[in-house]
This record gives sequence, C-alpha cells and structure tokens, in this order.
Amino acid sequence: MKVSVIGCGYLGAVHAAAMASLGHEVVGVDVDPIRVAALAAGRAPFYEPDLDELLARTGRAGRLSFTTDIEDVKGASVHFVCVGTPQSADSDAADLRYVEAVFAALVPVLQPGDVVAGKSTVPVGTAEGHVAEVEAAGARLVWNPEFLREGYAIRDTLSPDRLVYGLAPGDATSAAVLDAVYARQLDAGTPRIVTDLTTAELVKVAANSFLATKISFINAMAELCEVAGGDVGTLADAIGLDPRIGRKFLGAGVGFGGGCLPKDIRAFSVRAHELGADSAGGLLREVDAINLRRRAHVVDLVQNELGGLVGARVTVLGAAFKPDSDDVRDSPALDVALRLASAGADVVVTDPRAIDSARRVAPGLTYVADLEDAVRGADAVVLLTEWPQYRDADPVRLGALASRRVVVDGRRVLDRAAWEVAGWRVRVIGSADGPMGILSAG
Ligand code: NAD
Ligand code: UGA
Repeated sequence: MKVSVIGCGYLGAVHAAAMASLGHEVVGVDVDPIRVAALAAGRAPFYEPDLDELLARTGRAGRLSFTTDIEDVKGASVHFVCVGTPQSADSDAADLRYVEAVFAALVPVLQPGDVVAGKSTVPVGTAEGHVAEVEAAGARLVWNPEFLREGYAIRDTLSPDRLVYGLAPGDATSAAVLDAVYARQLDAGTPRIVTDLTTAELVKVAANSFLATKISFINAMAELCEVAGGDVGTLADAIGLDPRIGRKFLGAGVGFGGGCLPKDIRAFSVRAHELGADSAGGLLREVDAINLRRRAHVVDLVQNELGGLVGARVTVLGAAFKPDSDDVRDSPALDVALRLASAGADVVVTDPRAIDSARRVAPGLTYVADLEDAVRGADAVVLLTEWPQYRDADPVRLGALASRRVVVDGRRVLDRAAWEVAGWRVRVIGSADGPMGILSAG
C-alpha cells in the first residue's frame, strides 16, 4: 500500500521507516529541508537506536522517499499526520498550529477514498474539528494515537501493545484500510480497539497521564522516605510485587521529562478546565508540581553537601531526558544543570549523545564529551541520566580525578557501597542519608 507520513520528527521518521519495512511504499513530508535531506540520505536527524540502518535499508529498497512538497502525497491511500503538538509559548495548552497547517495543506490534495490518520497527540475535540473538511474532499478522518517510547521506537512501532482506531460517525470503511496497513501487527496478535474520535484522543493523553502519575506517586513516596528515614527503592520493590500495582514506572529520582509526558499532562489539565472537568485537571497539576519539586530538591542536596554553590565546580552526568536518546526537551538533567548554574555553580555537563542538542538550547553551560575529563576537578558529581556508562563508571578512577568526592545519585542507579569504599560521600535521592536498602529479599 502507498502511504504518506507528514511530519518526520521522532514519531514520523520512525513511523515512515517502520511502515516501509513492512513492505509499504512510503513518502515522508516535512517542512524542514535539512531534515528531509538527511532522511533522504538515510541518516536520522536525531539519535534513535537502529533508525539509521532502517532508513538506509528501506531507502535502498526503493520503498521510502522524503520530500518537502505536500503534492507528492497524491496517490497515497493513507496519510499519517505526525507533526508536533508542543506546549504553547505563553500557556500550558498545546500549540496546535502545526496540526492546523497540515490540514490546510493536505485537504486540497486529498483524493476521494483517502484516509487521513492522525497520530499526533492532540487535545480532545481536535479531530472532530477537521472531519467536515476531510469528508468534503471525499476522504475519511481517523485518529490512530501512537504509544512508542523513544529509545525503543522501532520495536514499539513494529510490535505495539495495542492499536487504537478512533472513527468518525458513520465511517464503515477506514478500519479495514488501517487493518491492511497494520496487517503484520494484527497477525501477530496485537489487540485492536475501535472507538470514536473522542475516546481515541483521550486514550492517548490518559495513558501518558497515568504513567506520569505513577512516577510522581513514587516520587511523593521518595519525599516521605527522605524525611522519615526510609528507602524508596525497597518500598517500590515491595509494592511493585503486587501485580495490581506492578514495578514498572516506579523508578524514583529526578522525575520525568521529554517531549511528551510534561506537555501532555499540562495540555490535558488545560483542556479539562475548558470542558468544566477541573478536578481531573487538578490531579495532573499536582503530578506536575511533585515532578518539578524533584529538580529543586536535587539542587538543594548539592548545595547542602557543598555548603554553597557559588564558585563550586559541579559535574552533571547526563543531558538527555533519558538514556538512549539525544532528546533534551524538558530534560530534568538539563534543567537541574541550568538551576545549578543560575545559583552560581561552575557547571560542566557530559552526555554520550545529547551534547549537541543540549548546546543548542543551553549554550551558556560548559560541555565536555569525555566522562573522565568532565569529572576532573569536580567538587560534586551529580548523576541525572542513567546511561549505563555512568552507572558502571569506576568510582576509584573518578575519585582520583575529582577535587572532592561528593556524588549525588539522582536516578538511584549507582552501587552505593562501591562508591563509599572508594571514598565518596554518596547522597541518593529518595533514601535517607546513610547506608540503606534491601536487608533481606526473596
Ligand atoms: P518533533 O518535533 O520531533 O517532529 C515534528 C516534525 O513535524 C518536525 O520535523 C517538523 O519540521 C515537522 N513539521 C512541522 N510542521 C509541519 C508541516 N506543516 N508539514 C510537515 N511537517 C511539519 O515531534 P515528535 O516528537 O515527533 O512528536 C510528534 C507528535 O507525536 C506529537 O504530538 C507528540 O506528542 C506525538 N508523539 C510523540 C512520541 C515521541 O516519542 N516523540 C511518541 C508518541 C506520540
Ligand atoms: C512516553 C511514553 O512512555 C510513551 O508510551 C509515549 O508514546 C510517549 O511518552 C509520547 O507520548 O511521546 P518517552 O517520553 O519516550 O515515552 O519516555 P518514557 O520512557 O516514558 O520516560 C519519560 C520520562 O519519565 C523520562 O524522563 C524518564 O527518565 C522518566 N521515568 C520513567 C522516571 O522518572 N521513572 C520511571 O520509572 C520511568
């Protein structure tokens, strides 16, 4: 089947390459000519494991092309809308200008029988506002939200947990068209939920809101553990053994960031308020507040350990919002680095993949690519993105380079005993000061 993918960022570039790998003929459209040139040359414009290889392979096979010209989508039966829906510059609401621009450009080139499949995460009610214009062109609009995680994006696209199709009233044909696109996933037993446009939009923001709530819940427990003298890791292990709770997404630490969870809960909160369901929005505002408190808390921990930040050399391990990504959108690591710098610290940031993207948004910080060079002369080391190379770093080697052996573990991944034996003073977010943890297990 011939399909188009409009908007080739983290979601769209992966979706385009994955659809081509399933045997479809794919044209990807983006307004950014530099991005299009990179993709057309088989290079991902951001870091996502295995994406370069998939782009190059499907491109060589002649099934994947990229363009800036929306006219080139003519002849495709399904058009996936994958443009960004970031937070607005002046409020917590979603900025829908890119979605609006796509509909304005796409509707005139639609052909009767086409299916427009929205994948961008949008406030409830957005899709309904575009049904009439799409149907006037003889086409159909469905909402088909995406649940992939960065770092696992190809795997999640090819083997999703579920497929959700939101259909407009009276649409008896689009589900079969999407079934043909996703035949491989459906044959493998992927559950498929067919619903209305409104529910499909809500499923997506509800899923991200639940994940954010789970993280903030465990971080609220971390706040309690810190003052009461408990250990949040052991607490999470213990409650996570209840299958109704589950251990996933109970990773306490500096909290969630990225291009989706933070902006999606804020947009949900605004939309709930607009619709008169403000208490649902209130829940998510608290989730956001707990999350942001974690960032301030790490800064306080470092300040307390050093007895002041002005002039102190602080090395931040990590800039990406999570490992296996170069994405720094709303990154807790970069935010903490900036807070430390504005409190007067001399901050050095290192990251295996995200230095270029971090430098673009925070040019005033000092970036050092090599871990040992970054730690040389540090008064404190703060781990904020749990890259394996930081988790597994040798505390003896690093201890020989640092000025003072003070480490703050903002992701709870370091081997505390090994660092203490190497002479480091170790502060672990979510644990009381002092050796802590599992006394007996099994
Ligand atoms: P992104 O900013 O990485 O990519 C958006 C792309 O759209 C950019 O390349 C931009 O140049 C392009 N674009 C903007 N206007 C355009 C237009 N008029 N025509 C064609 N292209 C245009 O954003 P993203 O992270 O890929 O997110 C896209 C959407 O998918 C968002 O709604 C997001 O919430 C959702 N989502 C993202 C992920 C993820 O992991 N990043 C996962 C699930 C859902
Ligand atoms: C998230 C969702 O997991 C995807 O299902 C969704 O499709 C996507 O948002 C989206 O809508 O864009 P992603 O942002 O790639 O995916 O990353 P996650 O793995 O969810 O991590 C988000 C943040 O939460 C990271 O900063 C991570 O460090 C943090 N996190 C995660 C924790 O602090 N604790 C945890 O236990 C898990």
